[in-house]
Amino acid sequence: LPVVGVMLERHQVETLGTRLLAEAHAVGEALPWASGPTLDVACARLATDLGVRVTVIGPDGKVLGESTRSSESLEDHADRPEFREALGDGEGRSVRWSDTVRDRLLYAAWRQTRANEVRVVRVALPLTAVTANAAQVRQFVILGILLASLLGLGVAFVLSRAMLRRLQRLIAFSERLAAGEPTPYLGPERADELGLLEAQLGAMAARVASTIAELRIEHERLEAILRGMNEGVVVTQLDGTVVLLNARARELLALPREQDGRGRPLVELARDPALAELARVLAADDVAAPRDVTLEGGNGRTIQVNGAVLRGLDGEPFGVVLVLHDVTELRRLEVVRRDFVANVSHELRTPLTAIKGYAETLLGPAGDDRETARRFLAVIDRHSERLGRLIDDLLTLSNLELGRTSLRLAPVLVGPAIDDVLQILAARSAQSHVECSTAIAPGTPPVLADGDRLRQVLINLVDNAIKYTPAGGHVAVRAASANGRPGRAPQVEILVEDTGIGIPAQDLPRLTERFFRVDKARSRELGGTGLGLAIVKHIVQAHGGSLAIDSTLGTGTRVRVRLPAAS
Ligand SMILES: Nc1ncnc2c1ncn2[C@@H]1O[C@H](COP(=O)(O)OP(=O)(O)OP(=O)(O)O)[C@@H](O)[C@H]1O
Ligand SMILES: [Mg+2]
Repeated sequence: LPVVGVMLERHQVETLGTRLLAEAHAVGEALPWASGPTLDVACARLATDLGVRVTVIGPDGKVLGESTRSSESLEDHADRPEFREALGDGEGRSVRWSDTVRDRLLYAAWRQTRANEVRVVRVALPLTAVTANAAQVRQFVILGILLASLLGLGVAFVLSRAMLRRLQRLIAFSERLAAGEPTPYLGPERADELGLLEAQLGAMAARVASTIAELRIEHERLEAILRGMNEGVVVTQLDGTVVLLNARARELLALPREQDGRGRPLVELARDPALAELARVLAADDVAAPRDVTLEGGNGRTIQVNGAVLRGLDGEPFGVVLVLHDVTELRRLEVVRRDFVANVSHELRTPLTAIKGYAETLLGPAGDDRETARRFLAVIDRHSERLGRLIDDLLTLSNLELGRTSLRLAPVLVGPAIDDVLQILAARSAQSHVECSTAIAPGTPPVLADGDRLRQVLINLVDNAIKYTPAGGHVAVRAASANGRPGRAPQVEILVEDTGIGIPAQDLPRLTERFFRVDKARSRELGGTGLGLAIVKHIVQAHGGSLAIDSTLGTGTRVRVRLPAAS
C-alpha cells in the first residue's frame, strides 16, 4: 500500500512538473522584461489567475519579481537547484521546503532569453494539493482493496463450503466402503481435481463390489461342493490345526452338532489318533504320497482316509487335506460275501455228506437187506431233493439279483392265486394241524405282476407261516386294495398272518438276508435253507412293491406285501 502511495505521488509530481514547466513558458511570455515592484505586480496577477507562485530570477541569482511578496525582501536565489538547472540546461525542477511560503513546493524553472538578456521564470505549486490528492486516491485504493478482499473472502467462503461438503461426502463414502457396506453410486460432481478423485473412488468401489461378489460366488460354490460331497473333507495347517471341515466330516468324526471344529487341533477332534498321526506324517514328510488308513470313527463306522499335502504355487507345502470315506457298508458287504460262500459250502456239504454216508452203507453188507435199503434210499432221495431245492433257490436268487429274470407282467387276480397256493400247501398244513383261511376284500383290483413269481412269493410266505406255527394254530391270508398316500399309484396289500412262534425283534431287520435263520437247527430240521425271504424280497422289489414284517415273540407274525394294482 505505501508503495502504491509513493508511486502515485511520484507520478503526479511528474505530470504536474511537466504542466508547471509549460506554465512557466506561458508566464515568461506574458511577463514584461522588467524588475522590482512592476514585475512583482504582474507576477502577482498571473499567480492568482493560475493559482501558483511565480518568481522571476536574474542570471546572477537576484530575484527580479515575486508573486507572494516584494522581490526586494527576498534573498539571493543563485543556490536554488531548479534555478541552476534551468540556467544550465534551459529547464529545471525540484521539490523542496520553501521558507518563503512555509510549505513544501514543487518548482519548475525555465530559462527565458531575449536578445542578450537572460532571466529564469520559475513557477511553484504547493505539494499539499498533490499529497491530498494522493491521500484521497490512497483512500480509494484501500477501500477498493478492502472491498475486493471482502468479496474474495465471501467467494472463498462459499467455495470452501462447497469443497467441504464434497470432501465430507467423499469421507462418508470411503467410510462405508471400508466398513464393507453397499456403497451408493458416486459420480464426479464437477470436472475438477476433486471430481477426478470422486470418479476414481466411485470406480474403485464398483470394482471392489464386483470383486467381492465374485469371491462370494466362488465361496458359495466351494461350500456347495463341500456340502454335497459324500466324502468327509478335513483341511489342516502343517501344525495340525483344522482350518476347514465339511458337514460330512463332522458326521463321520461324530462331532457334536454345535461344535464347529475349526481352529482346533485335529488330535482333539478325532477319537482315533491314527488320523492326526497321518496328518502329522504327511506334514513332516515333504514327499509323502497319498496314504490310506482305516480307523474306527464314532458310531461304529469304518473310515478310510486318503491324505495329501497341499502346496502353494511356489511348491511350498502349507497344509494337509484328508478325505474320509465311509467304508462301513463296503466292509459289511465283504463280510456278507465271505459268509455267503461259507454258508453255501456248508449247506451243500450237509446233504452231500448224508447222501455219501448212506450210499456207502448201501454198498456194504447192509445193502443186502431189502427193507434197510429202501429206508436208506428214501433218506438219500430226501437229501438229494433238498440239494436240488437249495440249488434252485440259489439260482433263482442270483438270477433275480443279476436282473436276469424277466418279469412277464400282466393283471393277476389275487384271490385265485392265493387259492392255488393254499391248494399246493394243503397237505402240509393238514400234516402240521394248522388251519388256513383266506379273505379277499370285495373290489380288490388285480395286481400287475408275473403270475408265477407272485405264487412263488405266496408259497414262501404261507410255507413259513405253517412251518413256524405249532399244531392247532391258524394262518390267515388276506388281500385288500391299499390306496396309500394321495398321488401314489394304487396298490394291493396282501397280508399273511399266523399265530406261530414269532420272531425276536432284533432279528427282524436281518430276515431277508440270505441264509439267515433265527433258529438254525430248528429251521434246518424243517428243511429250510434261509433263502425263502431273500427271494420274496427280491421278487417284490422287482415288481416295484414293498415288504414289511412285524412279529411278536410267542404270539405270531404278520408279513405285509404291497404290489402295484393293474389299472
Ligand atoms: N412266519 C414266521 N414265523 C416265525 N419265524 C419265521 C417266520 N417266517 C420266517 N421266520 C424266520 O425267518 C427265517 C428265514 O425265513 P426264510 O423263509 O428265509 O428261511 P427258511 O424258511 O428257514 O428256509 P426256506 O424258506 O429257504 O426253506 C426262518 O428261518 C425263521 O427263523
Ligand atoms: Mg421259508
